[in-house]
Amino acid sequence: MQKKLVEKFKEIFGEGGDIRVYFAPGRVNLIGEHTDYNGGHVFPCALTIGTYGVARKRDDQTLRFYSVNFERLGVLESSVEQLKADKKADWTNYPKGVMWAFGQKGMKVEQGMDLLLFGNIPNGSGLSSSASVEVLTGYVLKDLFGFDVSNQDLALIGQFAENQFNGVNCGIMDQFAIAMGRAGHAIFLDTADLKYEYAPIKLDGAKIVISCTNKKRGLGDSKYNERRSECEQALAEIQEVVGIRTLGDLSEEQFEQYKAAVKDETRVKRARHAVYENQRTLKAVEALRNDNVKLFGELMNASHVSLRDDYEVTGIELDTMVEEAWKVEGVIGSRMTGAGFGGCTVSIVKDEAVEAFIEQVGKAYKEKIGYEGDFYVVEIGGGPARLA
Ligand code: GLA
Repeated sequence: MQKKLVEKFKEIFGEGGDIRVYFAPGRVNLIGEHTDYNGGHVFPCALTIGTYGVARKRDDQTLRFYSVNFERLGVLESSVEQLKADKKADWTNYPKGVMWAFGQKGMKVEQGMDLLLFGNIPNGSGLSSSASVEVLTGYVLKDLFGFDVSNQDLALIGQFAENQFNGVNCGIMDQFAIAMGRAGHAIFLDTADLKYEYAPIKLDGAKIVISCTNKKRGLGDSKYNERRSECEQALAEIQEVVGIRTLGDLSEEQFEQYKAAVKDETRVKRARHAVYENQRTLKAVEALRNDNVKLFGELMNASHVSLRDDYEVTGIELDTMVEEAWKVEGVIGSRMTGAGFGGCTVSIVKDEAVEAFIEQVGKAYKEKIGYEGDFYVVEIGGGPARLA
């Protein structure tokens, strides 16, 4: 793979210079959905699939981008002096956004580069291909130009770029999971203060299976920002009656006590999800600590129900994928993962049931939805790295 990408790089951009190869993972969130902009907890992990980057410094200010995933777009040019979002050159807004964000944080990128990317995360799948490109770009800038930034900084800069350059008001989960990934571990992150712990994922006799609905999702045109502002409004209403900083500060009992302050039924539902999902995440991590994978699975299922009924971010494709998964013997838990509105589900499936799972869920999904889903048995990988 690496060799082929370097060959491709030379074919597109020419030989010579110091050509370096990098990787940044994608991520899947096991539980704690739509909690990261509500001061709650999340429990994602990095994957062994992700984005490969081949890069070489230039002596001028020119930026040349090429994606093996969007070959028809050819080489897209820009300059470090002209870092503006451009609809026509869609994907380059992610690396450009990160370069712009470095500048905003006092680390101006003075020199250009040639950058070739190849991602094996299904695009628009909810496995954070965009955050993966962002963290990869930050890592490349750090390595090529010697900026002094930690991996946690790379996560924050990536989120800043996504918010300010790409206009998506995302939380910190995706960039954090990617920048801080550790093989075999999920990250238990408190988004209120960025305290985190690594939790080993020992699913004795079970696997993580990602089912892709193949319904594409773009955060920008989805209802993501709308959900976020509904939660902010609900928080402001609750703050009228009790001094909390975020919805993540509330227990279930406290929420029930104060929810009457929220003057709109939809906002009550949104806030209820945020509060209960955060509590579910705490319980799920505790369950895993006690080797109670069964309870972990039940909490995943409850998470999906809440995302479907209270947060309303699923839709027929995700619901079908999950509801068909629940029917299969040997499925410990299954839920949508990521922002929702399409993308993927994550399921924990007993080893001996994986084959039947893919067959049965695949068949039922195709029958109901009219096109196929895709299935991936995944491994938990590490964070960004220079490969050569
Ligand atoms: C997207 C965002 C994350 C998070 C999830 C939902 O992936 O980028 O910050 O809000 O949705 O949990």
